[in-house]
Amino acid sequence: MPTYEPLGSERLCYATELGAQMCGDSLELLAQLPAESVDLFITSPPFPLQRKKAYGNEDQERYVDWLTEFVKLARDALKPTGSLVIDIGGAYQKGRPVRSLHQFRALIAFVDDLDLRLAEEFYWHNTSKLPSPIEWVNKRKFRVKDSVNTVWWLSKGDFPKASIENVLVPYSESMKRLLKNPSKYYQPKLRASEHDIGTAFGKDNGGAIPSNLLSIPNSQSNDSYLRLVRELGLKGHPARFPLKLPEFFIKMLTEPGDLVVDFFSGSNSTGRVAESHNRKWLSFEQERGYCALSVVRFLEGHPIGSIKQHVEAIEAGDKVFL
Ligand SMILES: C[S@@+](CC[C@H](N)C(=O)[O-])C[C@H]1O[C@@H](n2cnc3c(N)ncnc32)[C@H](O)[C@@H]1O
Repeated sequence: MPTYEPLGSERLCYATELGAQMCGDSLELLAQLPAESVDLFITSPPFPLQRKKAYGNEDQERYVDWLTEFVKLARDALKPTGSLVIDIGGAYQKGRPVRSLHQFRALIAFVDDLDLRLAEEFYWHNTSKLPSPIEWVNKRKFRVKDSVNTVWWLSKGDFPKASIENVLVPYSESMKRLLKNPSKYYQPKLRASEHDIGTAFGKDNGGAIPSNLLSIPNSQSNDSYLRLVRELGLKGHPARFPLKLPEFFIKMLTEPGDLVVDFFSGSNSTGRVAESHNRKWLSFEQERGYCALSVVRFLEGHPIGSIKQHVEAIEAGDKVFL
């Protein structure tokens, strides 16, 4: 059964073996998902505070109410063991060197009003972030650059499906030395911090436990998506997240065959990663142009003329089956 079946094909742009890109308002599309059918939602909403307002709070509140509507529908479609991961960038209030609290207010609304659990808070450190806003950071030099996004991992129950064994990171050099010769570097004992450093500490588990600080550069100026988009003489989506961000959560929170949904899918980074890891996927995006361009992620290695035909066909409203 095609993954988009429960939503019908009216909004379909293109489908692969495992997933489908749908074009439309996610409020409508989310409402069509069967209850308790999704293993993981992972998404990054558009930034708030685009219009100048006399009071920053008013804008923040409207943003939180707006976002909560989507998350409520997503919660209803989530399996009891499922997770919802939402990357929300920080922002200054329009025209003021004062930070907005929208990502924190949103988190509190999700937990207090929608009864979601904060399984864990993550921080995505974009190690290639350029300094901004220019006025506060570069010119007047009284704020440092803002290069960390909050990524809230929310769940419906206390025990969402998760396996950190799927996302182990390379051991540090000192840990590698210790693993080669444990008795030389440590003695099993109870540390003052009450950490019990037992004999298992010297066991090689294939990698170290990752932390909730994800250091991932968003330097995609030369990735295959942008390369193909440029070859077509077009402009890519301006606010993509790096593939490694959805990849981390897809690997940790789902298994092959599970369903992953992104309801602000932009250039469909999430769908691309889900497909590569054998997960089913659905991506929702309201701008047809972004939907059409995102098909290039699935056409690497095809002649550029054929890629152009696919993009143009989707832009014209055709449904493409890859
Ligand atoms: C920050 S971008 C997401 C980028 C994506 N993570 C990627 O890597 O390409 C947010 C996207 O949400 C889309 N969007 C905003 N409101 C929407 C709605 N109501 N329904 C569907 N998509 C929406 C915007 O058009 C934009 O492309």
